[in-house]
Amino acid sequence: MWSRRAFLRMSGAVGTAAFSTAAYKDVAAIEAASAAQSGRSAEDVAQDEFYWREIQEAFTLDRTLTNLNNGNTCPSPRVVHEACKRYMDMANMLPVQYNGMIGRNIQTVRRRLAAEFGCDVEELALTRNASESLQIAQNGLDLEPGDEILTTEQDYPRMLTTWDQRVRRDKIKVTRIQFPVPTTQDDLFQRFERAITPRTKVMHFCHITNLTGQLFPVQRLSRLARSRGIVTIVDGAHAFAHFPFKLRDLECDYYGVSLHKWLLAPIGNGLLIVRRENIAKTWPLQAVPDRQAGDIAKFEQIGTHPQAIRASIAEALAFHQAIGAERKAARLRYLTLRWANVIKNQPRVKMLSSLEPGQTWGVAMVGIDGVDSRALSQHMMDRYRIVVNAVNGGTAPNQVFDYSGLRVTPNVYTTLEEVDTFAQAMLDVAKNGLPAGTAQSAPRGRG
Ligand SMILES: Cc1ncc(COP(=O)(O)O)c(C=O)c1O
Repeated sequence: MWSRRAFLRMSGAVGTAAFSTAAYKDVAAIEAASAAQSGRSAEDVAQDEFYWREIQEAFTLDRTLTNLNNGNTCPSPRVVHEACKRYMDMANMLPVQYNGMIGRNIQTVRRRLAAEFGCDVEELALTRNASESLQIAQNGLDLEPGDEILTTEQDYPRMLTTWDQRVRRDKIKVTRIQFPVPTTQDDLFQRFERAITPRTKVMHFCHITNLTGQLFPVQRLSRLARSRGIVTIVDGAHAFAHFPFKLRDLECDYYGVSLHKWLLAPIGNGLLIVRRENIAKTWPLQAVPDRQAGDIAKFEQIGTHPQAIRASIAEALAFHQAIGAERKAARLRYLTLRWANVIKNQPRVKMLSSLEPGQTWGVAMVGIDGVDSRALSQHMMDRYRIVVNAVNGGTAPNQVFDYSGLRVTPNVYTTLEEVDTFAQAMLDVAKNGLPAGTAQSAPRGRG
């Protein structure tokens, strides 16, 4: 059991390390703190503030602001940021020598990511973000005029735009399925099943959406697609390192991730997984010689780029593993339930995400009837210095949906005081409305 004395001893050690150059101790300290939790359930540890204090101290944040928009891009822990700067400095000494050397060492990163993710290293490519990963799949598949793509109205705007461009370029057809939120796995499955036609070639959907965090039945949809000869492209921008799963259990054809979201890697990191038999038939973003057609490395050909950004994924992964995927997911869920339970029964409050176990972790959305969500987001900033994203339904060609609210995304460094302040602020608005004259801000950073 992790005693208070042990915690203080440890946090003292970390405190010294935290402001010294030996930032790597952050991971060692977290590993030690996690080891001391063995035998306790993830849900139990999720409520242990001594443990999470250790994690909070691993970040250099502006604590005068509360960040509840981690769904856009997450800050890296100090140990990751320091590693990135170190590799940058190294590369700059003699780029042709050192940038290349760092690049060759990155095979270690691929190997470790594949092990964590539950896939084959020969099926994994590092990219700059989820947009790049998904567009490689979307633009890289051969499609004939009249071929059909099934996706949803709540898929990510850039991915919808990519399909719209292929409609113009290749005369394919795109069908966007609509669904209520929150909804069930069965409902989503049936909506896709009903929409399949003999011309359907691709099913493209999120693992969880960027809006309400709606979870999709990926394995069931992948099996359905495979049984009809349809390819699956899964948008996992928000899923990896957010809640535990193994890629091989999803059984999809393509999977794209943003590593600068929940893995906490530096900005500019993504991941693409391509099932082995699809590699040769998928065109890469930048051309490669024919002999490389079946090599996953072809998807990484983007010309000269900073290897430092990629190399520091190793530290981000070590940090993630030091906490543990189960503990992290349990904490994110605990933080979400902590604010949601305070406000969910207010008559004007509308929860737009499921609070059932196994459905929601760190992405959840809430609206207040009669309150404009952009004005509410601005109020949170003006009155409480809380950064939280307003989400409003758009019109085609963008995402189309008929709800609005705040998308609330805490992180492992978020304190209880921060979520409690948010909950009380929401309670106040639900009861009393917004102060007169609250301005609307433009929606920003939905991510
Ligand atoms: C569901 C979803 N897909 C794709 C993306 C694109 O990710 P990136 O900005 O890393 O390219 C995002 C970004 O927020 C997203 O939320």
